[in-house]
Amino acid sequence: MKPLIAANWKMNMDTKSSVSFINSFKKYIKNIKNMEIVICPPFTLLNKINEAIKNTNIKLGAQNIHFEEKGAFTGEVSGLMLKDAGCEYVILGHSERRQYFNETNSMINRKIKSALKNKLKVILCIGESLKQRNNNQTMKIIKNQLLNCLNNIKEMKNIVIAYEPIWAIGTGKNATPSQAEEVHKFIRELLSDIYNKNISKNIRIIYGGSVKPNNIKELMAMKNINGALVGNASLDAKSFAKICGV
Ligand code: PGA
Repeated sequence: MKPLIAANWKMNMDTKSSVSFINSFKKYIKNIKNMEIVICPPFTLLNKINEAIKNTNIKLGAQNIHFEEKGAFTGEVSGLMLKDAGCEYVILGHSERRQYFNETNSMINRKIKSALKNKLKVILCIGESLKQRNNNQTMKIIKNQLLNCLNNIKEMKNIVIAYEPIWAIGTGKNATPSQAEEVHKFIRELLSDIYNKNISKNIRIIYGGSVKPNNIKELMAMKNINGALVGNASLDAKSFAKICGV
């Protein structure tokens, strides 16, 4: 399967900086063919980036949706609208959404259903906190998040799972390749139990949490790591291109 590297710009960048990012990034990645590359800017930049990536292999993604398609939900944006804006992907269940906006597994489950209905591919984020890891609860938390977020979802071909240990996000302290691989393998086995071997074998499980040009190689060398979700290091065109070039 083709690995996937996605940029999660979070609440960063403006029109000028994002267009200049794409212009340099395009040149750096000209020869990269064996990688699927997705950029997930804030909503306000979707249109601009959609124009800027025309005639490239770069794909567009968003960072969240509401689970309804339209209606009286002031301040929200739906999957239907994102599809219309040119998005192919959407990140759902990011730990920052869970932590600061009280998103629950059942809300995320509804969002996934709405995204799939609107033909958006989903990058579903799951991961444990440091406290949970220290209490040996990592696998229990992962299993609970995965089972609840995927409840009643049968179509898995448009889902990517992102394992993002909360303690590694934005801290500069990435999970070691073997720590990440242990959880990725567990996720793959779980998917095999929930669905079947064939589905589990073909699903991309990507890693996120302080991915940088100097640690991507060793992470990608792991059997069950099929890409990365990159925050900080995706804000600089050169550094993100280096990560994509692994
Ligand atoms: P980071 O963020 O690369 O800055 O740790 C990753 C993420 O939150 O998806």
